[in-house]
Amino acid sequence: MENLKGKTAFVTGGSKGIGYGIAQKLLANGLNVVLTSRSQESADKAAESLNKEFNTNAALGVAADVRNYTDQVNAVEKAVEAFGGIDVMVANAGLGHFGNIADISIEQWNDVIDTNLTGAFYSLKASLEPLKKSEGYYISISSLAGTNFFAGGTAYNASKFGVTGFTQAAMLDVRQSGIKVSTIMPGTVSSYFNGNEPDASGDWKIQPEDIGELVVDLIKMNPRTLPSKIEVRPSMPPTK
Ligand SMILES: NC(=O)c1ccc[n+]([C@@H]2O[C@H](COP(=O)([O-])OP(=O)(O)OC[C@H]3O[C@@H](n4cnc5c(N)ncnc54)[C@H](OP(=O)(O)O)[C@@H]3O)[C@@H](O)[C@H]2O)c1
Repeated sequence: MENLKGKTAFVTGGSKGIGYGIAQKLLANGLNVVLTSRSQESADKAAESLNKEFNTNAALGVAADVRNYTDQVNAVEKAVEAFGGIDVMVANAGLGHFGNIADISIEQWNDVIDTNLTGAFYSLKASLEPLKKSEGYYISISSLAGTNFFAGGTAYNASKFGVTGFTQAAMLDVRQSGIKVSTIMPGTVSSYFNGNEPDASGDWKIQPEDIGELVVDLIKMNPRTLPSKIEVRPSMPPTK
């Protein structure tokens, strides 16, 4: 996409953290942004603060739980109604429950898989037609945990290895119809993930807006070329 002005992006889980940083950079580059959250109040609050920051009405908050396919379909419809189409879908919403397999509950397992993995599938499935129409871009936010496994990570690793595999297979399914597909696999990002409160001690971490910049770089890239799987690391993690 050479000219981003007036294009429309949809960011799942854009109320805070990485999704919010992605929304910021997309708005800064002239796109409309529909962002979702499980709560209408949080979605509205985020959209309001972004509209204020960029002196625009181009951000719209919609309540949609990525674990619910009907929610995704309705939210996509709202985006198309509001802005006429969808050019970029970012499947970002996610969470983690960590612990020894003996302690991970059935509910925690289902929450992680339904949100991170099934949510990424629902987000693409629900936006396939608008993306075909726009010859748009689908980007999932996987993780380095989608290629490196660790103790206590059964549910999270399974979900993110799944997101990485899902996204690469989906890329092969849709690229001939003009839809670009990439997965971004960040290391530690300064966000609210797993109860974290971002502060200055996390300045060494990747910042949410850095992932936002990467999303903008991807969608600006000449469409003949597709970076399909991108690992992103803090360049100087603290030595242990
Ligand atoms: N932080 C890291 O170090 C890191 C590294 C690699 C990958 N990631 C991935 O990056 C993505 C974003 O995480 P983050 O670090 O930005 O965490 P975060 O600050 O906790 O933000 C998570 C976002 O996801 C939304 N969300 C959670 N469950 C949802 C659901 N069922 N439906 C819709 N939205 C939902 C939250 O919205 P509400 O709470 O308002 O519903 C929030 O906007 C996740 O997929 C995560 O796995 C994070």
